Amino acid sequence: MATKLAFVGFGGVGQALAEIISERSGELKQSYGMDLQVVAVSDMMKGSVYRPEGLDIDQLLETVRKNGTVEQYPDQSGVLKGWSSLETIEHSNADVIVEVTFTDVHTGEPAISHCKAAFQNGKSVVTTNKGPVALAYRELSKLAEEQDVFFGFEGTVMSGTPALRMPVMALAGNRIKEIKGILNGTINYILTEMEKGSSYEGALKQAQRLGYAEADPTNDVEGYDARYKAAILANYLMGADLHHTEVECKGITSLTKEQVQQAVEEGEKWRLLARVTDEDGAVKASVKPERISADDPLAGVTGATNAIVYECDLAGPIMLTGAGAGLKETGFSLLIDLIHYAKRHAKATI
Ligand code: HSE
Repeated sequence: MATKLAFVGFGGVGQALAEIISERSGELKQSYGMDLQVVAVSDMMKGSVYRPEGLDIDQLLETVRKNGTVEQYPDQSGVLKGWSSLETIEHSNADVIVEVTFTDVHTGEPAISHCKAAFQNGKSVVTTNKGPVALAYRELSKLAEEQDVFFGFEGTVMSGTPALRMPVMALAGNRIKEIKGILNGTINYILTEMEKGSSYEGALKQAQRLGYAEADPTNDVEGYDARYKAAILANYLMGADLHHTEVECKGITSLTKEQVQQAVEEGEKWRLLARVTDEDGAVKASVKPERISADDPLAGVTGATNAIVYECDLAGPIMLTGAGAGLKETGFSLLIDLIHYAKRHAKATI
């Protein structure tokens, strides 16, 4: 039976997932028994289209790329247009809502309302949107559990690098007392460019040109983006109930090029580290620039790359490094959530 998907938001990440589904449909069917069918798209700027029997993904992608909107999707039988996000969530026949709207990191809206509406209507959600997980994880995961639906959010921390699922699955059985990591690619890029001699302003502009920075780069450079990710790690992996404002947060705007280069001369590096610690059940989190030895594995992480270290009592320190952003990578994070959704429905072991 097909798994019906509705995209709420259809920007770069949503389109990247649609492209992966189109390209890999044969493999997904063969390896995981997954038949992913897109039934709806609803986007504030790009309009909306719904067809209960399924839309043609390639046609959908071609339409949005050519016209900047999905409204010109051919009017074949059964096609409905003009539904809002909430109408799509509540009234479409989708099994899973792919929530990839713009992240408003202050309120988490409208993504939080989208997740709630989906769960209340018995639909699962996969999302890369940090807002709902950083601000309303407890409430949303409880609701999803009560409604017996799936809530996947792997891409909220380190995009397609499995920072959330790896410790839960592969490191199960360990007690993890500390998690520390480089969780913002823009800042790491700026710091490593400053080590090479660039100015802060020049490096930031370049990070924006390369597409690493958030729409408002203040969220990156002041550490807010990393703070949300630290809150997600604390709440999901350490069982805390931390509000993001309880995460101590300092960005890199007061670090000078001279300080960065002096550290290098003295065998050290500045890195913006997110730390989550569990001291006898008291979970604390912080995000701040730290001077670490150049021999520390985290000092060797350069450019926009992210990395995370889990201090495990049995396995020792385990470091995971990889992309923290990128369309294909983030599209993959949604795919892996969908694969786990499918496995859960097939009652297979994950
Ligand atoms: N602006 C973010 C970063 C993108 O630089 O890491 C992913 O959240």
